[in-house]
Amino acid sequence: MTYLVTGGAGFIGSHLVERLLQEGFEVVCLDSFDGSYDPALKRENIGTALDNPSFSLLEADLRQGFLLEGLFSKFDIDTVIHLAARTGESCSLKDPVGYGEVNVNGTAQLLECCRKFGVKNFVFASSAPVYGEGPKLPFAEDAESGVPLSPYAATKLAGEFLCQTYRRLCGMSVTCLRLFTVYGPRQRPKMAIRSFAEKMFKGEEITIFGDGSLRRDYVYIDDVIEGIISVLKKRFPFEVINLGSGRPVQISEVVSTLERKTTLKAKVEYLPPQPVEMEAIWADISKAERLLDYEPGVSFEEGVTRFVKWLTERQEPSALKVVAEEKKLSI
Ligand SMILES: NC(=O)c1ccc[n+]([C@@H]2O[C@H](COP(=O)([O-])OP(=O)(O)OC[C@H]3O[C@@H](n4cnc5c(N)ncnc54)[C@H](O)[C@@H]3O)[C@@H](O)[C@H]2O)c1
Repeated sequence: MTYLVTGGAGFIGSHLVERLLQEGFEVVCLDSFDGSYDPALKRENIGTALDNPSFSLLEADLRQGFLLEGLFSKFDIDTVIHLAARTGESCSLKDPVGYGEVNVNGTAQLLECCRKFGVKNFVFASSAPVYGEGPKLPFAEDAESGVPLSPYAATKLAGEFLCQTYRRLCGMSVTCLRLFTVYGPRQRPKMAIRSFAEKMFKGEEITIFGDGSLRRDYVYIDDVIEGIISVLKKRFPFEVINLGSGRPVQISEVVSTLERKTTLKAKVEYLPPQPVEMEAIWADISKAERLLDYEPGVSFEEGVTRFVKWLTERQEPSALKVVAEEKKLSI
């Protein structure tokens, strides 16, 4: 069986690619290695996969329709896991049109290819901010969505609607996974836990928007990957499912946990809250427990321990670009 993972060189995608390869599947990765953060980190992420003969890499932009069609013609893709996106809420304020182009137009382009080429199963990485301001905590999938606070959140909600439309148009199985704040090895450099830890190691000041009381539902990468694998095995006709930990943590606790795990004292600068920030993000995970036997087993304490260990042991990206160039598909 062949899986297409879009954004497969990114944080979540690269973990998923590795897991699918371990299970013996053929995996095609489509990634543009965009400049949202250092592309060398993405080459590092897929370093192990590049050695695997069951892995193929297409370095291309999701919006290049002719390349996408070439990919679907070349491989018999059964399932698409669509993770490629412009990410980050505050960054989306600076380029709302660019976010729309990738997250909405790119998703539509991909879904249309799935329809043309008879893909059976589609999994979409949606995001907790689609709940917006309004619904009561913890967020449950059947809650009426509030107004998305950022262009990023709005594009993810639009992506969910496109998924529903294509479910109706061509009957493929579709699952929209509302991911909460995922962390762990390879986390995107701009995300809180990684950026805080890296700054602490360099003795630099970290910035907290608000007074540190904002709460986020941090979920460890391994738990998310288990959730995705379970979705791939179950193939629901159409579902929207939260993947979080169900245990919100205050930003101030993130800092104090990092201080304990790194034995470093953080220098903190407090700035006013940003308009795109929700006060609290907290997943109701009962649907995932019921449908997926989902059990996020890694506590925040344990997850941060593992993350800090990875960060302190990792090597800087080396000459992986050369290997990636050799493995690259030309379509
Ligand atoms: N990490 C989280 O906490 C989190 C939370 C909620 C939702 N998500 C969603 O999960 C997905 C993966 O997130 P991540 O944290 O791994 O991000 P990431 O930035 O590490 O991975 C995304 C990948 O998509 C690629 N990409 C971007 N635009 C592309 C395009 N036009 N064509 C092809 N590839 C493109 C990037 O190069 C990158 O490798 C995203 O859709 C994101 O919105 C992530």
